[in-house]
Order: sequence, then C-alpha cells, then structure tokens
Amino acid sequence: MSLTSFAPAKVNLYLHVTGKRSDGYHLLDSLAVFPAVGDKVTVSEAASLSLSLSGPFGAALEGEADNLLLQAARSLAQDSGAALALEKNLPVASGIGGGSADAAACLRALCKLWGVQGADLPALALHLGADVPVCLRSIPARMQGIGEVLAPAPRLPEFGMVLVNPGVAVPTPSVFKARRGGFTPAPMLPAIWPNAAAMASALKRCTNDLQAAAITIQPVIGEVLATLSTLPGVLLARMSGSGATCFALFATPAEAEAAAAQIPQESWWRWGGGLYQPPQTGL
Ligand code: C5P
Repeated sequence: MSLTSFAPAKVNLYLHVTGKRSDGYHLLDSLAVFPAVGDKVTVSEAASLSLSLSGPFGAALEGEADNLLLQAARSLAQDSGAALALEKNLPVASGIGGGSADAAACLRALCKLWGVQGADLPALALHLGADVPVCLRSIPARMQGIGEVLAPAPRLPEFGMVLVNPGVAVPTPSVFKARRGGFTPAPMLPAIWPNAAAMASALKRCTNDLQAAAITIQPVIGEVLATLSTLPGVLLARMSGSGATCFALFATPAEAEAAAAQIPQESWWRWGGGLYQPPQTGL
C-alpha cells in the first residue's frame, strides 16, 4: 500500500515576537495560512525505513544527515519500516515551513499506513520543530507560545497570494539572533474579515518582527519586497517566517497568478494562487 499526503507551504501573515523563554526560544503571536502550493510526501510499505528525494529542490536535501522526515517516522514508531518519498517543490530553509510541512504530512500518512492509534501527534510534532504542530492540520490558525498554542484564525475572505523566494537560504536561528528591538504585543483580531482589503489593512497594523533582521543577513529580501510592492493590485507585501520567502496579497487568486507571471527576475522562484483546501480524508 502507498499513501500520498500534500504538504502545503505555511505563510505567516504577521509574526510578532512577544517575549523570550528562559531556554532561548521566542514567544510568538502569528497568523499562519496555507497556500495551495507545496511538497508531496508518499509513504509505502517496506521492511526498513528509507527516504528518496525528487522535485526541483530535492537535490538541495541530498547528503543531509538526518532529514526531518526520517526523524518524524522514528518518533511515531521507533522500529517500523516504510519507504518515504519526498517531492520537494518548495525552496528549502525559506520561511514557508517546507521541512515542517513535510514532517507533518509524514506523520499524517504514516499514522494511516501503520494504523497508529492514540499517538499524541501535536506533542510529537512540537518535538520535531515549533512550526510542525500548525502544519498537522494545514488550516488557517493563530499560533502562540513558541508556535504550539493554536487557536482558530479569524474567518478569512477570498484572497490571492504571490510567493517569491530569491534563492538564498536563511537559517532561522541566525535571524532570531540578529533581531534587534523589544517585543511587540499580540494584536486584537476580529472574528471575521469581510473582504481582502479589510484583511490587508488590519494586517498592515501588524509586523513581521524578523523581517529587518533577515534583510541585514540577506539584503536581497529588501529587493524582493520592493518588487512585490510594485505589482498591480498588491494589497500588502511582507516576509514570511524567518525568510527569505516574501508574500504579497491580492483580492483574488487569479489576480495573484497573473501578478506572479509579471515578476521580471527570472531566477526568483515564484508562485501565485489561493489557499489550500485540505481533503476530507485527513491526508
Ligand atoms: O523549532 P525549530 O527547529 O523550527 O526552530 C529553529 C530555531 O529557531 C530554534 O533553535 C531557535 O533558535 C529559533 N526559534 C525561536 N523561537 C521560536 C521558534 C524558533 O527562537 N518560537
């Protein structure tokens, strides 16, 4: 038997650093959404655990000592076998949760393949990374704590999103270390945003507190944001997570798709569309 689970990208519409824990992890308040672009994780029955890589960014993970997918599999069942296949469509170390989404998709698929019951998936997920719990369900969510305290997002209107990555990997710990300034309080969010313009104007009052630090490490992020800000119909342009991927919001997915095609920098990875709708099967 073989099962495939989609691992959509995670985008932080805002990201406030609200405090710091004694172990060095930062307390956050963030609104995470999941665009309809991502990796694919296929799990198949096999006697031992293995991982194969494909897709445009698969080569970037070759030679990695212990991929998060293998760690996810072992955390679910120490000695069970499975052939894991990762189609890597998202740029790596890029602030849109690729590795976290892959780990979450792997946990979902292996639970089904192995018939695991009663596992504490959110706890296993958190152990793999602060962004993995929110990726388990891949539906819009407010993240607090270090990312593991999840609450429903406001009801979101239809909107479109462009993602751009300029091809530089940014290590998350360096960005947190380079961050200057104090803490930003959590914003008040409404229960519902009636349309994309209202959502964007509320989000403009929020920030990504890691953006300035990431630009000092990789100034090209500033160029990406400048390019996104000039696209026709753009409502908001901001960096996601610890970068370097930036996003721009539009009124509709079609507008976003058209805008993505207009970005002149050919070497930049880009995508335009709408949000991911998870299937009823739970995969
Ligand atoms: O949990 P994850 O492995 O994704 O985190 C990578 C690094 O990012 C951590 O080691 C830490 O330096 C930083 N981080 C943080 N606060 C968070 C999440 C991550 O300081 N809430």
